[in-house]
Amino acid sequence: MLTMIFACDKSNAIGKDGDLPWRQSTDLQHFKRITLGGTIVMGRKTWDSLPGKLPDRRHLVMTKSPRNDIETTSFEGVMELAKDEEIFIIGGGEIYRLFLPHVDKIHRTVIHCEVDNADTYAPELSEQEFSLTSSNFTPKTERDDFDMTFEMYEKIR
Ligand SMILES: NC(=O)c1ccc[n+]([C@@H]2O[C@H](COP(=O)([O-])OP(=O)(O)OC[C@H]3O[C@@H](n4cnc5c(N)ncnc54)[C@H](OP(=O)(O)O)[C@@H]3O)[C@@H](O)[C@H]2O)c1
Repeated sequence: MLTMIFACDKSNAIGKDGDLPWRQSTDLQHFKRITLGGTIVMGRKTWDSLPGKLPDRRHLVMTKSPRNDIETTSFEGVMELAKDEEIFIIGGGEIYRLFLPHVDKIHRTVIHCEVDNADTYAPELSEQEFSLTSSNFTPKTERDDFDMTFEMYEKIR
């Protein structure tokens, strides 16, 4: 099973200058709760944006260059693994676009803001392909820049 998880602004922006465009601790906790103990797949640029490995998750990085410092994978490798376990697609924009046609479930956090000069976007979710199954507005805490809404979508079969 393939599950995608991302946070976007009201216009679907997810990144700027190789990083997240907000400080949103409550969303990071949400991300941790969902992915902990699982396998996370990311593009090489998202890997470069992290300070290092996130605790207690298997990391698989997509790159077209050989690497021996991290575990890498391919589109086919991810699809094979997803036959037996839930695989979390955690970004960025290129990787979301690659796997969107194959995902079963999407956790989307809408951050209630409009990012100026964003350079990376999540793909649009089609209402014909995905149904919104839950939506929870969550006000910001002192460790968040903005209010947010946690949404879940499931593929329409
Ligand atoms: N808001 C969120 O939820 C969220 C989540 C994750 C990331 N982000 C943001 O998104 C931005 C990064 O996204 P991005 O779109 O620029 O890059 P990305 O998707 O993270 O990585 C792109 C890289 O993935 C590799 N790749 C792509 N397709 C591949 C394929 N078919 N097979 C093998 N490797 C493949 C290539 O690596 P090589 O060049 O090494 O070949 C490519 O340069 C950052 O700003 C990050 O902070 C936001």
